[in-house]
This record gives sequence, structure tokens and C-alpha cells, in this order.
Amino acid sequence: MPDRVQRVMFTPPIRRICIRVPLLRAVYSGCLRRHPIDLQYGTDTSGLVDHLTLHRDATLVGQLRPYMGSQPTIIRRALDTLGDIAGYTFVDIGCGKGRPMIVASEYPFALALGYDISADLVRIANANAVVMARHFPQRPPIRALHANVSDLQVPSGKAVVFLYNPFGAELMRSLLEKLEAELASGAIQHLYIVYDNPVCGEVFDNSRYLTRWFAGEFTYDHEELGFGPEDKESVVIWQSVRGARPDAFPDRNRRITTKDLLSASLEG
Ligand SMILES: C[S@@+](CC[C@H](N)C(=O)[O-])C[C@H]1O[C@@H](n2cnc3c(N)ncnc32)[C@H](O)[C@@H]1O
Repeated sequence: MPDRVQRVMFTPPIRRICIRVPLLRAVYSGCLRRHPIDLQYGTDTSGLVDHLTLHRDATLVGQLRPYMGSQPTIIRRALDTLGDIAGYTFVDIGCGKGRPMIVASEYPFALALGYDISADLVRIANANAVVMARHFPQRPPIRALHANVSDLQVPSGKAVVFLYNPFGAELMRSLLEKLEAELASGAIQHLYIVYDNPVCGEVFDNSRYLTRWFAGEFTYDHEELGFGPEDKESVVIWQSVRGARPDAFPDRNRRITTKDLLSASLEG
């Protein structure tokens, strides 16, 4: 789309009207344009992949959410709340093309690991990892693995699990059970769960192994506007009771309201 047309379409009053037109929503959700992070690094994390393309298993399709990359600004602001995470493993469950791992590699994690149910997206994420390693050989390694969340083995040690609304409550509960087992055995010493757009946040709120760390909204950077469904995202972060750090955010217990399968907001 010509630059001039795009600029006009993104002026707030025009955007407010046009975003309601189904055909134009694709433009506003960034499906047709390369994300600024891809222009910066030469990676491929852009676009939208619908859930039917991600997997053919009819029993799973109802649980899947489409692939769309989360915004680097949101990931950075969320990670900035955590304090010292040197040596932790960053784990993106439902990593898609791996944008959060690219952003996480800016931080002193031991490793940025991702799992996704789509072999095609995992291939792309690993190709992006090669590009990033070429640019920044000193950064933490990035690795994506092909796995359904119900089959994968969660990492041990200290970990930051990242989720950008990847699937529904049933699969979220199966992930929580694995994390709880590792916390109970002591294999995980300290854990953060960073949930961007926490549609199934209730699952984690009900765990006696977890406690809230943070709840808040982050707005997209100006250059990211139009690359996600909104202009801000709610983010809720839990930490494990095991190895818990002292509370630092008084608003951390804000209630999550789930509007539909694709979006959650915070009350208060
Ligand atoms: C909204 S995208 C998020 C991508 C990435 N985390 C990000 O923030 O840019 C959700 C991803 O979850 C993956 N996913 C959905 N169900 C899954 C499952 N059962 N196991 C593993 N990955 C799954 C999808 O293939 C998709 O790539």
C-alpha cells in the first residue's frame, strides 16, 4: 500500500472509522505489512496465520488461537518489571515465528526457548534465530521446538514463561499442571508467568503454587500501531510461591475480565 495512503489511514479519526470495516481490519492488524522489527533485523515475524492453517487436527483446532506476533514494546515493558533475570530461561509457549524470543535475547537470559504446534512456524522461528545470531553472536541463544503444549517438557531451574493468548483454558490447565509438578518437586526454583492478553488468566489465579506479581496495561509504541488488534494490551504476571520475591506492585491483583476468546481487559 502506498506510504501516503497508509499514513492517512493511520490518522486517529480515520483509523477509528475504518477499523470497523471488516475488509480493512486486515490493514490495521498489520497482516499485509512487515513489522518494524523485521525491517530492522531482516527477520520474518510478520503476518497473520489462521488457526485452520496452523493445525489440521479437528479436536485441537477449537483450542488454537491464530498466529500473530506480540509487540516488542509490550514484551520489553513486561520483562522490565521482573528485576534481575540473569541466568533464567525464557520460554515462549506458542512461540509462532519467535518475535518474543528475539526481544528476550536483548536481556541476560541463559537461553530463549520456544515451542509451537506448527512445524512451519517453528522452521521460520529457527531461521530468524540464525539471522539474530549472525547480528548478535554475544546474545543468548534462541531455539524453537515443534511441540504441542500437552506433550512438551517444561524447563527446570529458574524460568520466565511467556504467553500471548496461545490457546484455550483446557490446554492452559494442562500447562499449569506441568509447571505445578516441577514446582512441587523443586525442579523449578523460581518461575514468572508473563501473560500478554490473559484470556485464561483465571487458571493461574486459582493455583496455590502461584501468586500475582504485576497487572497493568501497556500501550504500543507509535510505530507498532496497527500491527496488533488494539493500541494497548493488558499484561498479568504471576510468580511462584517457591522462591518468591517481595511484592513490588500494589495493583497486581486487578481483576481480569475476559470479553471473548481473543481479548481480556483489567478492571479498576
Ligand atoms: C497469538 S500467537 C503468539 C505467538 C508468539 N508467542 C508471539 O507473541 O509473537 C499463538 C501461537 O500459539 C501456537 N499454539 C496454539 N496452540 C498451541 C499448542 N497446543 N501447543 C503449542 N503451540 C500452540 C500457535 O501456533 C501460535 O503460533
